[in-house]
Amino acid sequence: MKVLITGVAGFIGFHLSQHLLRKNFDIIGIDNVNDYYDLNLKNNRLKILNQDNIYFKKINIADKTKIEELFNVERPSLVIHLAAQAGVRYSINNPNEYITSNIVGFQNIIECCCKFNVNHLMYASSSSVYGLNDKTPFSENDMTDNPANLYGASKKSNELVAFSYSNLYSLPTTGLRLFTVYGPWGRPDMAYFKFTKNIIEGKPISLYGNGNMYRDFTYIDDVVNAITKLMNIRPKKNKNQKMNQVPAEVYNIGNSNAVFLEDFVKIIEDVTGKKAIKNYLPMQMGDIYKTFADINKLHNLINFKPVKNINEGLPLFVDWYRSFYK
Ligand SMILES: NC(=O)c1ccc[n+]([C@@H]2O[C@H](COP(=O)([O-])OP(=O)(O)OC[C@H]3O[C@@H](n4cnc5c(N)ncnc54)[C@H](O)[C@@H]3O)[C@@H](O)[C@H]2O)c1
Repeated sequence: MKVLITGVAGFIGFHLSQHLLRKNFDIIGIDNVNDYYDLNLKNNRLKILNQDNIYFKKINIADKTKIEELFNVERPSLVIHLAAQAGVRYSINNPNEYITSNIVGFQNIIECCCKFNVNHLMYASSSSVYGLNDKTPFSENDMTDNPANLYGASKKSNELVAFSYSNLYSLPTTGLRLFTVYGPWGRPDMAYFKFTKNIIEGKPISLYGNGNMYRDFTYIDDVVNAITKLMNIRPKKNKNQKMNQVPAEVYNIGNSNAVFLEDFVKIIEDVTGKKAIKNYLPMQMGDIYKTFADINKLHNLINFKPVKNINEGLPLFVDWYRSFYK
């Protein structure tokens, strides 16, 4: 199976590619290697993938001509679309990045999936689609009409566009609603990374919402495991059920455990052996108080059970952080 993975220099794309390469998949990886965060990290991930013989091309998904050329030449049968402008806080001051990469870029990818007869499009959505919902845990059956920020709105829009393409062209699409993914080689813009860095360096950390926040942290290996299993399950039309005539699905991928921010800081303190200097600050614009995934749908489909909780996963991240940044 020839698999196109977009956002391959990114955190999740890197881990997924490594895993699939070990299983001898034929992978084409694309990324525009932008400087949203430490380029050294992205380049090092690419260096490792290069040793594993991935075919990598530096392309911006917003460039329709280049994307069409790539699909025309490579003819992937499965597309795992992870490239996007991530981050909630960055979306407040940089809205255009989200329209260009997440809306225009997504459109280019899904158009090519139809034009070049891709068998299955899997794409990263986000827990952010649940936005201002206050009923937890978040279930795929809940409505998702209240995104709290443009990032969430862009991911919700991806799900709507995917549904319409699945309906019009019978393209099987699977949306992956990811919940705070963390682990070695993780993203420097995320709280667990910043907290670890600052605690190690003896600098203050910012606890927004005055520390009264909860996040459902999902270890990277659990995410890779879920995506790998979902690759084998193409949503199908079910002619007997009116509601299921469109081959489009979305799944929560989370740990299903909402961790209190202070508890999570305590684990980093214990692992690093250093006390955090805490700055309590009000909730930031566009932020969400709590994320918490109901993962029954995924469990019923692929028997998904997250293997690592935060007590096991965070030390692995801190170990990696220390060795990478010496
Ligand atoms: N990590 C999480 O906690 C999390 C949670 C929910 C959803 N997601 C989604 O999962 C996907 C992967 O996330 P990640 O954590 O690996 O993020 P990441 O930023 O590490 O990876 C995204 C990659 O996409 C690339 N990219 C961005 N815009 C591009 C463009 N226009 N053209 C080509 N490449 C482009 C970036 O250079 C980056 O390497 C994203 O779609 C993200 O929104 C991640």
